[in-house]
Amino acid sequence: MEKTELKIRVVGEDVLRRKAKQVRQVGEEHQDILSRMAQLMYDSSGIGLAAPQVGIAQSMIVVDIGQGLYKLVNPRIVRRKGTQVLEEGCLSVPGVCVKVKRAQWVCLEALDQQGKPLRVEAEGLLACVFQHEIDHLEGKLIIDYAPLLQRLKMRKHLEGLKEKNGNERVPKSKTEPRRL
Ligand code: NI
Repeated sequence: MEKTELKIRVVGEDVLRRKAKQVRQVGEEHQDILSRMAQLMYDSSGIGLAAPQVGIAQSMIVVDIGQGLYKLVNPRIVRRKGTQVLEEGCLSVPGVCVKVKRAQWVCLEALDQQGKPLRVEAEGLLACVFQHEIDHLEGKLIIDYAPLLQRLKMRKHLEGLKEKNGNERVPKSKTEPRRL
């Protein structure tokens, strides 16, 4: 894979709606992508990032809510408990904030960047971020959870984002508390 600079893809780009491919064998190129994704996440003040968000339709995510960095390949949720509703933002949908109902606790199975199977249990915000990133791997975005009225209200904003193709820099604001 060529070493072009990774760039955040914004709603309107097909790759965000595609189902990510499972990684057959974790190799150096995947480790490289995961490292660069983590750097881009930190540079963008994000707490999670999925490979389709940088234009790579492969099953990889990075997450760091301030308690350590997770780099996961082929993550899937194997158990979930309870519910929680948190306001979520997304680096691929700048300027939009949606309340999303998710499991309060999840158990994931994934591969680490060496290709070793691992299991992660998470609750609260961390569980929310994992579910958000795994949604990205399915081609799902937070706007899909928005109630009809909110969707209608943000339609114009989304059209604008598609036209500018992410060239508009949306400043971090109070209404956008978490960028995933
Ligand atoms: Ni996101």
